[in-house]
Amino acid sequence: MGLAREKPVPAAIAQDTPLSPENFRRIARVLHEDAGIAMPDAKRQLAHSRLSKRLRRLGMDDFTAYCDLVESKGGAEERGHMLAALTTNVTRFFREPHHFELLEKSVLPPLLDRARRGGRVRLWSAGCSTGEEPYSLALTILSMLPNAADLDIRILATDIDPNVLATARRGLYTARSAETIPERSRKRYVENTDDPGQVRMGDTVRRLVTLNGLNLVRRWPMKGPFDVIFCRNVVIYFDEATQRALWQEFARVLAPDGWLLIGHSERVFGPAAQTLRTAGITAYRKTVR
Ligand SMILES: C[S@@+](CC[C@H](N)C(=O)[O-])C[C@H]1O[C@@H](n2cnc3c(N)ncnc32)[C@H](O)[C@@H]1O
Repeated sequence: MGLAREKPVPAAIAQDTPLSPENFRRIARVLHEDAGIAMPDAKRQLAHSRLSKRLRRLGMDDFTAYCDLVESKGGAEERGHMLAALTTNVTRFFREPHHFELLEKSVLPPLLDRARRGGRVRLWSAGCSTGEEPYSLALTILSMLPNAADLDIRILATDIDPNVLATARRGLYTARSAETIPERSRKRYVENTDDPGQVRMGDTVRRLVTLNGLNLVRRWPMKGPFDVIFCRNVVIYFDEATQRALWQEFARVLAPDGWLLIGHSERVFGPAAQTLRTAGITAYRKTVR
């Protein structure tokens, strides 16, 4: 189903359309199958309000018909819209600043030395949302090594949601949101635009970052090894089995001694905890024995 078939209906109709427990479970099942995301019953209200907008766009006045659509073979495109509507994309430049301090103090110095000697350095921001996280990584690297973009250093940034990736590719942010970027880096690497309320990531920063679509719960095309993986505030939405499997996959693609940085309310558990050892607040290091 493409946009051509979408027709607006009065807001009141879609808003008043009830989402029954059964239809909520159908939606939750599709979301889980597609993206590993667990939607507890407590989220029914949230799903109702966010998906009412989709029903309105499609000119539908019935959640049963909507569920039939997302469950059908031809419903792939709408499943993408549904996923985008139901996922949380909240992020910030230099969010959880202790990780950036750890990068500067312990993680990056040996890696940047390697790059200076002509070696390869790979970082991955998995679940990068609108780009603030990978650009914060790039800005940290540039503050320590201004010619980093000319060396073999790359930051892969991936997300399942094409809308957030489009924002990351544009590289335009509100001047307000850029205030959490350290002043020296902001002055050097973030450009003003004609609109005083908006700034743009400069080319030097963008050259370090490669943005790609990737569903973390499907097969990954890249093999690594990665020296650093940021996967923060993403797995918290997944069920336990999916989280356990993901920790193992991250451990597999990490280089020996590689780092995994995770969100403040997440923790590594299961078999991966044998190889991923705590190395700071929500920081883990691969130890191969
Ligand atoms: C809350 S944001 C986290 C952004 C950033 N890592 C941070 O901590 O600021 C979560 C992101 O995970 C993405 N996501 C959810 N399920 C995913 C999946 N199965 N594969 C890849 N990305 C996923 C969402 O699209 C969203 O952009």
